[in-house]
Amino acid sequence: MTHLTWGLQGKTVIVTGGAGAIGRAVCEGFAEAGARVAVVDLSQEACDRTAADLGEGHAGFAANLREVSRLPDLVARIESTLGLPTVLVNVAGIILRNPDLLAVTEAEWDAQHDVNLKALFFLCQAFAARLVATGTPGSIVNYSSQGWMSGGFGGSVVYNATKGAVTTMTRGMARSWAARGIRVNGVAPGLVETPMLVNADTTPEQVAALEASIPLGRLGQPADHVGATVFLASDMAAYMTGAMVNVSGGFLMY
Ligand SMILES: NC(=O)c1ccc[n+]([C@@H]2O[C@H](COP(=O)([O-])OP(=O)(O)OC[C@H]3O[C@@H](n4cnc5c(N)ncnc54)[C@H](O)[C@@H]3O)[C@@H](O)[C@H]2O)c1
Repeated sequence: MTHLTWGLQGKTVIVTGGAGAIGRAVCEGFAEAGARVAVVDLSQEACDRTAADLGEGHAGFAANLREVSRLPDLVARIESTLGLPTVLVNVAGIILRNPDLLAVTEAEWDAQHDVNLKALFFLCQAFAARLVATGTPGSIVNYSSQGWMSGGFGGSVVYNATKGAVTTMTRGMARSWAARGIRVNGVAPGLVETPMLVNADTTPEQVAALEASIPLGRLGQPADHVGATVFLASDMAAYMTGAMVNVSGGFLMY
């Protein structure tokens, strides 16, 4: 018996936020495993560039995921170009930091919930609907954050609420769709060196303080998330569903 088989060769994999920092690395991982990658992000140019960099057989699909009524059409466009998608990886997310809870606006609340939670739910729905209609098994990987568990840092309270909901919903979807052969798991990054966390305003002292809080002694890199994501989507995780995998260098341990 062969144990170590990804089972991803020739499969169509959707990666949202695929032109972003972590999303792009995740796309590369699926391409390496032999999948056809549908790169979904806001800009067609960025999607096309990422898909072209992956090599032959991949394609870019621009979409504003907040427009949830258009998500079934997005899945249909991907299916007609690359074949029925059987893996969905929801990486797209936004954070709008506001350290003063008394000043959080409805627009900030809505934008983060729309992208991180509402769009994720309705894309899972559109994706799963095609699997159910065709009797095809599949898998979903949802991106949460260490903040679902820690509550996060000042300024990210609303963002972390969305990520808590993503974790809860991952478990609910896993239960709901298990009998359909659809596994649903998640990845919770810790502190990752991307513009979402470290930007021109971040001082070396702040970076050093973040690193000191991580037992493995460094910030996460986009590439650190590829193994867990591809694994969860693959046949090697065939008996895993409802898991939220902690990829934080030991920042949190659960
Ligand atoms: N960077 C971190 O420290 C960190 C920590 C924990 C969790 N995460 C999570 O990891 C995921 C990826 O983060 P990242 O650091 O790569 O961020 P990123 O900003 O580099 O990538 C996010 C991508 O999502 C896309 N996106 C945003 N809104 C969209 C919309 N409405 N429609 C389509 N695409 C949209 C963006 O264009 C971007 O390319 C996110 O879900 C984030 O919440 C990141």
